[in-house]
Amino acid sequence: MMKRDRPKVVVLRVIPDVALSRLEKRYVVDVNRSGHVLTRQQLVRRVKGAAAIVSLLTDTINEEVVVAAGDNLKIVANYAVGYDNIDLPALERHGVVATNTPGQLTDSVAEHSLALLLAVARRITEGDRYVRSGSYTQWEPMMLWGQTLLGKTVGIVGGGRIGSAFATMCHNAFHMRVLYSDIAASSTLERETGAKRVALTELLRRSDVVSIHCPLLPSTKHLVSHKELAHMKPSAILLNTARGPVVDEQALVRALREKKLFGAGLDVFEFEPKLVAGLRGISTVVMTPHIGSATHEAREMMARIAATNIEEVLQGRSASNPVTKYAKPINSLDN
Ligand code: DGY
Repeated sequence: MMKRDRPKVVVLRVIPDVALSRLEKRYVVDVNRSGHVLTRQQLVRRVKGAAAIVSLLTDTINEEVVVAAGDNLKIVANYAVGYDNIDLPALERHGVVATNTPGQLTDSVAEHSLALLLAVARRITEGDRYVRSGSYTQWEPMMLWGQTLLGKTVGIVGGGRIGSAFATMCHNAFHMRVLYSDIAASSTLERETGAKRVALTELLRRSDVVSIHCPLLPSTKHLVSHKELAHMKPSAILLNTARGPVVDEQALVRALREKKLFGAGLDVFEFEPKLVAGLRGISTVVMTPHIGSATHEAREMMARIAATNIEEVLQGRSASNPVTKYAKPINSLDN
């Protein structure tokens, strides 16, 4: 196939070269190398004529984008496991497949949840700031007391892959009891950790650590707000490595200020990358900039998975990781 006839793949930010160089062998690849998320206008212009788009969680992919891309568009490969940035019904209406990148990032995100848990429970970032500021002039018997995790109870909100991996880590490392709340039972989670599925309210009441791992859906937006936070123990820790809007951040600020919780570990934010007023000033919160999956292993594997999904669909096969329900059958574009 002449280069000019090859399908066009638009990549909305630079992703690992393992994927870009692979895609470049078969397709005309247009990568946004500006270092910035494209504005709406830029995005709509950029995708024109694309057969495939590699999108990120910062790109809203809706009807307007699909229409702007035109009839060639066959797949939107999201470089993330979460896909709340994609309007799935809009893609389904146009017969466009959306895919995600599950798998390798499971352990990376679960490990990040554990890192946040230890940082909050043992007040690591507060201690670090204290030492750096030069305030550490003598050992103090009553300073920076934290929480022991051994034998405590962890409550997992969303017992899918990442929630289960995190629960297993807590169970194996600290002999923690596991409760989980989900619309579906997870026999693996129950078998591996002895977890018990309970209603959210019971989970919040009984857990020493509550960790959010559910997707962002209309039904999970503000799943944890004032009422739910009020059920938690004052000694409890809340973790969120899933999606910011699952937690009502203003309600969280209030609960933390009023010492209704021990602390929180957040990798995601309701209005990411902005923080709600007051959050920055609370010393018992440990915050990271949505880096749960940011390990060499996970991000490279995510890139490979996105490239595989694109090759599959452009070759007329089914994608390995579809998140849309159906797509128009297509002939191979990729000879
Ligand atoms: C995801 O994959 O959804 C993470 O939030 C970012 O990698």
